Amino acid sequence: MGDWVSVEGDAALVEGETLAVDMDGVPVLLARQGGCIFAMENRCSHDGSELNGSQLEEGVLVCPHHGAKFALKNGEALCAPAYEPLTMFAVRVEGGVIQIQDDRW
Ligand code: FES
Repeated sequence: MGDWVSVEGDAALVEGETLAVDMDGVPVLLARQGGCIFAMENRCSHDGSELNGSQLEEGVLVCPHHGAKFALKNGEALCAPAYEPLTMFAVRVEGGVIQIQDDRW
């Protein structure tokens, strides 16, 4: 199990929005929906572009570049042009701070 890395204050991530953060050099996109926080590598599996500016639908993140959709719960690619899942990370809030588990190893 990887270490937990503090990335941002909980208040900085608004319901229904996304936020790009850095996890020890790894670009990560946070998303909050339905009171839950999701964390994924900030890199679309379609062509590697950053996911900044993605829109959230019910349980789904929509890439701003070519419209691929991914399940927030597990990163699964739901429609073309993406076919591979996003890399997801475990996330928690401790003492008002969002932490991501660095499980790259
Ligand atoms: S870069 Fe995300 S759908 Fe093309």
